[in-house]
Amino acid sequence: MDSMLVVVYSETGLARDVAAQLHAEHGWPVGEIHDLRSHPETPGVLRPLLDSLLHRGAPISYQGPDPGDFRTVVIVTPMLAGHVPAAMRAFLGHHREQLRRVAIISILKSDDAVSAVPEVAQLLGHAPIHNATLTAAELERGSVAAVREFGAFLQPRSTALQFPATGLSAA
Ligand SMILES: Cc1cc2nc3c(=O)[nH]c(=O)nc-3n(C[C@H](O)[C@H](O)[C@H](O)COP(=O)(O)O)c2cc1C
Repeated sequence: MDSMLVVVYSETGLARDVAAQLHAEHGWPVGEIHDLRSHPETPGVLRPLLDSLLHRGAPISYQGPDPGDFRTVVIVTPMLAGHVPAAMRAFLGHHREQLRRVAIISILKSDDAVSAVPEVAQLLGHAPIHNATLTAAELERGSVAAVREFGAFLQPRSTALQFPATGLSAA
């Protein structure tokens, strides 16, 4: 089944905007993870630092379709305090068995910041099929081209995606 689900965690809205663009351009449904400790009007600063330092988890709710019903799940996540946010880590842990094929968009403070890829790969036990990094600054400037490029690559009929190692071409 060539089906795609976008799963996002966002504190200040940039990752959510990226997920919304993928939905608008491809019709892919979006599920959102909420950190039950968060308050929308006061995005945490100290909390992500403590989560990172203490390697602690987070109570979450997830509103969206069951990831197990989709072939590919696109994870859209910021990095906070050098790590994938605790709420996203909790989601990945809960759904690890269902997330056999993921692509990742990391929202970063700068081009040279560490992406979510190594940590997500470690949590799931396998590498993503595709990934991209976007900076908060470029998203705030309204840059949408990189998101469009990422989505186009993941189109179910993409030969680059379906035959990555063999060099086979589509029929
Ligand atoms: C407390 C805090 C810690 C952050 N730590 C990192 C980090 O370690 N690496 C990084 O690339 N960006 C970091 N950022 C920047 C966020 O990734 C950026 O603000 C992003 O836009 C947040 O995504 P959102 O708008 O979807 O919540 C941090 C931001 C905050 C507020």
